[in-house]
Amino acid sequence: MYIPKFDLTGKVAIVTGGGRGIGLAIAQTFAAYGAKVVIAEILEDICDKAAADIAKEFGVETLAVHTDVRKIADLDNMVAKTVEKFGKIDILVNNAGVGITKKIIKAKPDGDSFAIKDMLNEEEWHYVVDTDLKAVMFAAQRVVKVMIEKGTQGNIINIASVGGIVASSAINPYLAAKAGVIHMTKGMVLEWARYGIRINAIAPGYVRTPMTEGTLQNERAYNSITSHVPSLKKIGEPMDIAAAALYLASDAAEWTNGITIPVDGGRVVW
Ligand SMILES: NC(=O)c1ccc[n+]([C@@H]2O[C@H](COP(=O)([O-])OP(=O)(O)OC[C@H]3O[C@@H](n4cnc5c(N)ncnc54)[C@H](O)[C@@H]3O)[C@@H](O)[C@H]2O)c1
Repeated sequence: MYIPKFDLTGKVAIVTGGGRGIGLAIAQTFAAYGAKVVIAEILEDICDKAAADIAKEFGVETLAVHTDVRKIADLDNMVAKTVEKFGKIDILVNNAGVGITKKIIKAKPDGDSFAIKDMLNEEEWHYVVDTDLKAVMFAAQRVVKVMIEKGTQGNIINIASVGGIVASSAINPYLAAKAGVIHMTKGMVLEWARYGIRINAIAPGYVRTPMTEGTLQNERAYNSITSHVPSLKKIGEPMDIAAAALYLASDAAEWTNGITIPVDGGRVVW
């Protein structure tokens, strides 16, 4: 009888943005289940610390690669350093992400009309979309090239967002990028399933991390966010997302391909 196993022993996993928050929780969980972990992170201090702490705590080999996922040369370096140390790549988690809270056009009432106060600019668009969408495509492309060359039947996990499914105000580039990630995941399956490679996504709801801690400290924002979460009206924790990533990364998910799992306390049922 076949009993599915959540086991990653001997697997090599790259986690982008793995220095803190959701990425760190995923890296810790993969290591706890036996994977060798590569932390690819833009902040050099937390990159090195996460790799060192995980090696010590879980007794697995780790590697820190200082990486700005927006730069193709950095992605090539991330892949080259991983292959140089571990000889292969089994899992890529495209987790690095950023957001900006700003309306496309900010206007205030001014007499009988409105006065324009601010506009989202091209640099802000690129900051979000290059990190959250462009990097997902090129990191996957670089990693899958190695998987194909080495005959590795690996998998990719793209961290999208509930914002890729339901809209919110004042985060438009983020919504566009995350919706793009969800659809891009399906297109990748059509190109790469023939090589035995699986590509899936996770759409987290609001999770307590350094990205969200400022917003969550505001009582009005907290109450508004949690009012749309049926499961106990609560915020998620990074390990809630890591649990889904563990399933998708493991052989237990070998028949799961091209989907996006919302992990959001039921937020998307609204
Ligand atoms: N926290 C939430 O509520 C939430 C909800 C939905 C989706 N997400 C997504 O989950 C992912 C992780 O978010 P988080 O909440 O842990 O955020 P976070 O800010 O705590 O962590 C993100 C990590 O990515 C790194 N990073 C940012 N830009 C980078 C770049 N150019 N190159 C390499 N690393 C970079 C950061 O330094 C940081 O370590 C993101 O893709 C985010 O959009 C988060």
